[in-house]
Amino acid sequence: MRILLTGRNGQVGWELERKLAPLGEVIATDRASLDLTDPDAIRCLVREAKPEVIVNAAAYTAVDKAESEPELAIQINSFAPGVLAEEAKRLGALLVHYSTDYVFDGEKATPYVEDDPPSPLNVYGRSKLEGERAIQASGCRHLILRTSWVYGARGNNFLLTILRLAKERDELHVVEDQVGAPTWCCPLAEATAAMLPKTALGETSAPGLYHLTNGGCTSWYGFAAEILRLANIATPVRAITAAARPAHAARPASSLLDNSKLRKVFGIAMPDWRASLASCLRSFAGGV
Ligand SMILES: NC(=O)c1ccc[n+]([C@@H]2O[C@H](COP(=O)([O-])OP(=O)(O)OC[C@H]3O[C@@H](n4cnc5c(N)ncnc54)[C@H](OP(=O)(O)O)[C@@H]3O)[C@@H](O)[C@H]2O)c1
Repeated sequence: MRILLTGRNGQVGWELERKLAPLGEVIATDRASLDLTDPDAIRCLVREAKPEVIVNAAAYTAVDKAESEPELAIQINSFAPGVLAEEAKRLGALLVHYSTDYVFDGEKATPYVEDDPPSPLNVYGRSKLEGERAIQASGCRHLILRTSWVYGARGNNFLLTILRLAKERDELHVVEDQVGAPTWCCPLAEATAAMLPKTALGETSAPGLYHLTNGGCTSWYGFAAEILRLANIATPVRAITAAARPAHAARPASSLLDNSKLRKVFGIAMPDWRASLASCLRSFAGGV
């Protein structure tokens, strides 16, 4: 299988490059070798590489900054996936793309399923939703995988921020009234790799939209408290409300995604978020 991967230096892209390698030849690109703001460059590279699968792990992910540069977020998160989808359609390739829990407004009392109507609260969420729609409209074979609260051993993420701040500050204040599922990029990449072979070869009629997160539920406060507990750090952490820490971008109060479709169609059961967090922290000790 010939796989073209974007965003190789991102949290998910870095894991994917390793987890997809056993499936075939992975042509991994970064911003320097493929700038997603340049549609001609995308077309050129895909036509040259002739992949059977395109995995788009690149994205504009700065949720707050997106409020002040919406055009750039839309170019990368909405238009570029549309161009990748057109090219996938031309080649008969499968497009795998990641989206977000932030396509929802967080008003639902139970976890969101794939058919729930999206209603994003911020520019990032809107740009990702437009990306989903461009892919769906193209008619290419696709997997759109919505995930949430992604962290790992590298990059910009909540886990690394909490570990750093716990060393710098006497006390941490973390939002308690927003809940979701922290998702380690490692099982996310493993699940993607497990979904690929059958879907790419057309052996299953399962392409489409899937929710793919770690299991369970917590708040940002609960996530921070568990990080500190597992890392044996004594810095106290206090719960605050989102209103007490205004951000540029509004965020959903509850963005839990229901993974039932993933389990039913692909037989993939994602680990609970606490188990994945513990594994991730153990991997630090092993030197990532
Ligand atoms: N992070 C989360 O909490 C979260 C939550 C839900 C869904 N997701 C989705 O999951 C996917 C992977 O996210 P992630 O956390 O791995 O993101 P990430 O760590 O921020 O990585 C994104 C990658 O995209 C690359 N990129 C940005 N602009 C680009 C451009 N113009 N051309 C080419 N590459 C560009 C970045 O390159 P540089 O390294 O050069 O900056 C980076 O390597 C994304 O689709 C994201 O929307 C993420």
